[in-house]
Amino acid sequence: MSQLRSKILDLVREYYAERHAPVSFDAQKDTVRYAGRVFDEAELVALVDSSLDFWLTEGRFCEAFASKLSDLLGVSNVLLTNSGSSANLLAISALTSHKLKDRRLRPGDEVITVAAGFPSTVAPLVQNRLVPVFVDVNVPTYNVSIEALEQAISPKTRAIFLAHTLGNPFDVDAVLALARQHKLWLIEDNCDALGSKYRGRYTGTFGHLATLSFYPAHHITTGEGGAVVTEDEDLARLVRAFRDWGRDCYCSGGENDTCGKRFTQQFGTLPAGYDHKYVYSEIGYNLKMTEMQAAIGTAQVDKLGGFCQRRRSNFATYSQFLDRYQDALLLPLATDGSDPAWFAYVVSVRPEAPFSRNSLVSYLNRHRIETRNIFAGNMLRQPAFASLDEGTYRVAGSLKNTDFVMNNSFFLGTYPGLSAEMLSVISERFAEFMTSH
Ligand SMILES: Cc1ncc(COP(=O)(O)O)c(C=O)c1O
Repeated sequence: MSQLRSKILDLVREYYAERHAPVSFDAQKDTVRYAGRVFDEAELVALVDSSLDFWLTEGRFCEAFASKLSDLLGVSNVLLTNSGSSANLLAISALTSHKLKDRRLRPGDEVITVAAGFPSTVAPLVQNRLVPVFVDVNVPTYNVSIEALEQAISPKTRAIFLAHTLGNPFDVDAVLALARQHKLWLIEDNCDALGSKYRGRYTGTFGHLATLSFYPAHHITTGEGGAVVTEDEDLARLVRAFRDWGRDCYCSGGENDTCGKRFTQQFGTLPAGYDHKYVYSEIGYNLKMTEMQAAIGTAQVDKLGGFCQRRRSNFATYSQFLDRYQDALLLPLATDGSDPAWFAYVVSVRPEAPFSRNSLVSYLNRHRIETRNIFAGNMLRQPAFASLDEGTYRVAGSLKNTDFVMNNSFFLGTYPGLSAEMLSVISERFAEFMTSH
């Protein structure tokens, strides 16, 4: 049987070489993508290997993937989920648990965030009837303005939930100081920043909770996928409960009675000794990762270091060739003390430039260079958020820079699939556009 398995996996390697081996880039007709999955035979072999197990739900590959991530980040708990958005929902939901007593988040509590970001950082706040408080960002770090954050804190503030924008860490020292001073929960949306460092330490390890996404555009991929990361054992147990139907029991699939008290506990008015596997302590979901997703992750995580190096060097190449256009373009800036594993290269068109963001972006896209906006721009101008009832959110201070980002900024890819040839095509297109303006 094991011989048959290795024969199959050898054939998979052969298949990879024939079907998926990198093809050369044709500048005359190919598009320069902003992101994409980068993989080799190891991912395909791991995927087929797990399919041959046919375990399907959380099993040895989930365990191995979580453990690799946990070793990499140096955190004790990595809870795998089916997406980064689910990870965000779980991180916030866990903080609403009745088990946290007076530390729990309750409807009406305020959580400070930014309006220039991704919608599913904010959605879980609304979904849990918390009040998002929107503050402005700095340009060109595209991260929260610390002054605005400080001024937004009110007696109702209970948490801060921020992303490390496009891989650029926010000012962790300042945010942590405010969180500690005001006894606030800090949740890091690290979905765009796996591999970024702040003062030599990985982002995603500073807050009470942090989230990861493994969507293909991100630093590593499992197709769909994500994780919640925490050092706090109690929070980890709550995240797991919300992720796994709300159940109190924390045995993994296939395990039984790891607590040794499966049939001996009393829960409220349930009969004495009611099977712990069927005791529900939270109003939960099912947002678990599957085994085949995790199998891909085990191979991807080994490549993270190399991927991040490529992201950093691609970023440096952009800075080199865009430097000469600084009169018209505002180039991105890493936060002090940080070493970002850049998700993207953000460019803003200065208001005094003789062209608009839209004209530059449409020129690039017409010439097969993909660009993206900074997600929702000003979230409050999006139909979903614009229709929120008064009193269910708050804006603290001006969102002037957020509107600037919505109107003037866009990003180019930094992903490891970009070759030197692709980058030089981008450079040429910029040169053509700039000389014609
Ligand atoms: C900052 C941020 N948070 C959360 C997410 C959601 O991740 P997912 O697509 O895995 O749901 C994204 C998505 O790209 C993101 O950029």
